[in-house]
Amino acid sequence: MRKSFLYSSFSLLALTSCDNKDSLIIEDFESGSFENWTMEGDAFGETPEKGALPGQQPLVGLEGKFLANSFHNGDDSRGTLTSKPFRIERDYINFLIGGGMSQDTYIELLVNGQSVHKTHNLIESETLQLMSWDVKAYKGLEATLRIVDNQRGSWGHILVDAIEQSNQYKSNIMENYTLSYDISKKYLLLPIEDNAPENTVQLLVNGEKIGTAQNIRLARTHIQYWLPLSVEAYKGKKISLVFGQATKSDIGINQIKPSDTFDYNYQETYRPNYHFTPPYGWMNDPNGMVYHNGEYHLFYQYNPYGARWGNMHWGHAVSEDMIHWRHLPVAIAPDELGTIFSGSAVVDKHNTAGFGKGAIVAFYTSAGRQQTQSIAYSLDNGRTFTKYAHNPVIPNPGIEDFRDPKVFWYAPQNKWIMSLATSQTITFYTSKNLKQWEKLSEFGENIGAHTGVWECPDLFPLVYEGKTKWVLFVSINPGGPNGGNATQYFIGDFDGTTFTPDPLPYPLWIDYGRDNYAGVTWSNIPESDGRRLFLGWMNNWDYGNVVPTHNFRSAMTLPRELRLAHNGEYMVVASFPVKEVGDEKNGASIIMDKLTEDTLHIGPDYYNNGYVLSFTIKPNGLSIFDFTLQNNKGEKIIYTFDTDKKTFIVDRTQSGLADFSSNFATPLIKAPLTKKDSYTIHIWVDKASTEVFVNGGELAQTNIAFPTEPYNQLKFDLRGNIAISVDNITLYKVKHD
Ligand code: FRU
Repeated sequence: MRKSFLYSSFSLLALTSCDNKDSLIIEDFESGSFENWTMEGDAFGETPEKGALPGQQPLVGLEGKFLANSFHNGDDSRGTLTSKPFRIERDYINFLIGGGMSQDTYIELLVNGQSVHKTHNLIESETLQLMSWDVKAYKGLEATLRIVDNQRGSWGHILVDAIEQSNQYKSNIMENYTLSYDISKKYLLLPIEDNAPENTVQLLVNGEKIGTAQNIRLARTHIQYWLPLSVEAYKGKKISLVFGQATKSDIGINQIKPSDTFDYNYQETYRPNYHFTPPYGWMNDPNGMVYHNGEYHLFYQYNPYGARWGNMHWGHAVSEDMIHWRHLPVAIAPDELGTIFSGSAVVDKHNTAGFGKGAIVAFYTSAGRQQTQSIAYSLDNGRTFTKYAHNPVIPNPGIEDFRDPKVFWYAPQNKWIMSLATSQTITFYTSKNLKQWEKLSEFGENIGAHTGVWECPDLFPLVYEGKTKWVLFVSINPGGPNGGNATQYFIGDFDGTTFTPDPLPYPLWIDYGRDNYAGVTWSNIPESDGRRLFLGWMNNWDYGNVVPTHNFRSAMTLPRELRLAHNGEYMVVASFPVKEVGDEKNGASIIMDKLTEDTLHIGPDYYNNGYVLSFTIKPNGLSIFDFTLQNNKGEKIIYTFDTDKKTFIVDRTQSGLADFSSNFATPLIKAPLTKKDSYTIHIWVDKASTEVFVNGGELAQTNIAFPTEPYNQLKFDLRGNIAISVDNITLYKVKHD
């Protein structure tokens, strides 16, 4: 139902005095009607409410009987209440606010048609809290109020009550709270509480805004970790941090400290031994993977302001072998077009864009009100990037999920190709100069998995028995084979315009585990190398934001080489860790030709550094067997082969810490297995992950786990089937020191 009441007159809203002579009620909704308001949309219902609506938790802290509640028709409804004009006669306006904390659910004060105050709730809560605006500057002027719910989905509602004018500033919440520092040290250390409500912080240098405001969870009641804000560039200057809102009791506000060092627990329990992690803060998708002048670049979705998703920047690291990484400063930061979502990078050898021969050109999604595609270039080996002056290069055509550009040079037709995720399809574009893009074709309707949004595509060739095939990776969230996100692929042909898939039993997944997402491949790998190199984000949106790490969240999978293989039934894309991370010759210890005991023990020399287990299993006609990775506390991951049901199952329900999310220890993680005479298994074990590869990666399962002690045993259960043989059991080290 949509309705709107329009006033014909502009009479001033009556101000009623209340007991305290100082205060004038603007609106307390106690008349039980919205007679003083113009209404649009259906979110606020026809009249003020007496409390919670069906499906809403009980409301706490409203005054009197009625309030404005935009939960009518649930969170998806939207609407606006606009007050009649009234005169500002006091120093402050105080009001109660509750509901969601989105920027799109807010109360706003307009003076002469200009917005002078706009406030959204600070926490997601049905408890109303008191907020105040300083309106001294507008005394004597006419003003209107707007209460807006323009947010769909979870917490897409607002509660407002008891709006008054007063000479008392009643809230203990301060708006645009500013702290200033004369900079003589390298960092300002910010105390963070992972669950605190998000607040905004804007940096000013000598009064000038630097960059855009970032969201931050400044500690309210206790400090969980510190984040360094690098201010070295402003030595000798005065900088200010302006917090959108602050509460007098926030302990974080009082403890921000200048420092020349940033000391944090880098070695925390679940920091992996040999997988890439950000130094601190949150990381998701790998981005801009390009090889250039002897360096593999890994950019990544990065929040330098906290260990949860938000404030997307491109973090940056370089490596000569994809194992030893050097952290570099943030490469691309948000701007007025939006935050910096996923994308790719190429080397523009022929200077097609005119930025310079050999420039690294990065493509990313500017995630503002709409998603658009932008570019930036680097002429100094990726150390600094300049954003193109005429961004975005691809405007939004009216598609909400329109992102993650992946670009490559298509030599046969001398042109660039971009694959872009466009809701439920991948759209291919072409360009001669990386700046002007033209749509070529769209792929994906009625094929593959579609139960979530399509993201992070990658189109690339692989050669199989001398013949070039084209592979298209498409990540999807949710809708993976075992819940949450996963990366599906298609194999087919590409003629420079259209991708045509081969008939295969889609959906096919590059990894059936729960923790390999948004992976794409490196560009510009030298022909002399010729490998197709890939890595993914080793986490899952189902629980990624709450995994039990501290200063940082998320690791990447091992870098892997991709190849086409035939699994006995159909063609697959196989993935296997790159040779740089070591092989069976690297510090091999237990080598047993035959399994003589059912449990193998792994020494600290191995589990403290990360290790690999490999062996061959010949079922010899029998169907079910399993092996278990376990520790002395009985925490374990069970791997089961069922050759009759043709599944390979990973069970991590008892793997260690699991109660941080109800989505984590979901029962069985299944992958399709083809019947073979023999299976080779490789399991890469790190502090908080296992990556299993069957038959050289024809089947892969990557699953994170949080054991409270390292797994130090491998136990076989052949269910008494002595016919099964387990051979060549090898334990070796990962090459990473
Ligand atoms: C995939 C994704 C991308 C997006 C990025 C935002 O994990 O949702 O589609 O660009 O993460 O961080």
